[in-house]
Amino acid sequence: MAYSGPFHEGDKVQLTDPKRRHFTITLTPGDNFHTHKGIVAHDDIIGAHEGSVVTSTMGTEFLCFRHLMVDHMLSMPRGAAVIYPKDSAQILIEGDIFNGARVLEAGAGSGALSMALLRAVGADGHVFSYEIREDHLNYAIDNVTDYFGQQPPQWSPRLGDFGEITTDDLDGPVDRVILDMVEPWHFLDTVRDILIPGGVFMTYVATVPQLMNTMEGIRELGCFTEPRAWESLVREWKVEGLATRPEHRMNAHTAFLVWTRRLADGVTPPRPQRRARR
Ligand SMILES: C[S@@+](CC[C@H](N)C(=O)[O-])C[C@H]1O[C@@H](n2cnc3c(N)ncnc32)[C@H](O)[C@@H]1O
Repeated sequence: MAYSGPFHEGDKVQLTDPKRRHFTITLTPGDNFHTHKGIVAHDDIIGAHEGSVVTSTMGTEFLCFRHLMVDHMLSMPRGAAVIYPKDSAQILIEGDIFNGARVLEAGAGSGALSMALLRAVGADGHVFSYEIREDHLNYAIDNVTDYFGQQPPQWSPRLGDFGEITTDDLDGPVDRVILDMVEPWHFLDTVRDILIPGGVFMTYVATVPQLMNTMEGIRELGCFTEPRAWESLVREWKVEGLATRPEHRMNAHTAFLVWTRRLADGVTPPRPQRRARR
């Protein structure tokens, strides 16, 4: 699929009307988009530059842009709750998802994180997405295929239990492991066994008890660095002259992120030094 350049057949295009309502269409030669504000011919958009304005038969103007990945993530059908873009952005950078990386994620859920990982690892990397529920895996496959226009060759969506994976299933260890499942602390042995020394492990948990169990489990296993935990809060602002202020509503809590790195085999993690109490 094309990410930029003039529109062509098959592109997903977002039309925005003067009331800022969005409509998404897939460009098909000879086809028409019908609204109560008139008809828009797909042929009027094919060949135009992104950011063009197309006018319906009733004179309404629509702004045309390609669907961005974030638009797709938030509008696609879901089997399971998705990782929100504010959090997948954190995972890509803090999880150090590099071009060419071999990454394993579980569960694949609706495929939102899979898309972000696939774009980041590029054609030379590989993403293994494990999912225990067939219906969820099908959502992930449909959503990812719909976004990329085909199933990416560097993607292995697999039906299976993360806890049963070995390096034999992956042709060797992976560079990064990302878990988004209810009880990740039950699967830390598997993370240890499939992650390369120095590899980054991140997990995404919604509640404080989950966070505590995960942090304690990582510490107890003794083969990871002292874990870090945080959450990301993103607050939009309304910027209009003297009325400039934060928006009233925000997606305040989604989940906590936990981060650690795999130590080399046989290494005992240095004890974290805590300040003495007075
Ligand atoms: C919240 S969803 C993941 C959403 C996904 N990260 C996304 O962005 O679309 C959690 C998924 O983990 C799956 N799951 C739970 N336990 C699992 C296991 N042991 N192995 C593989 N998948 C598992 C669930 O079936 C569910 O689909």
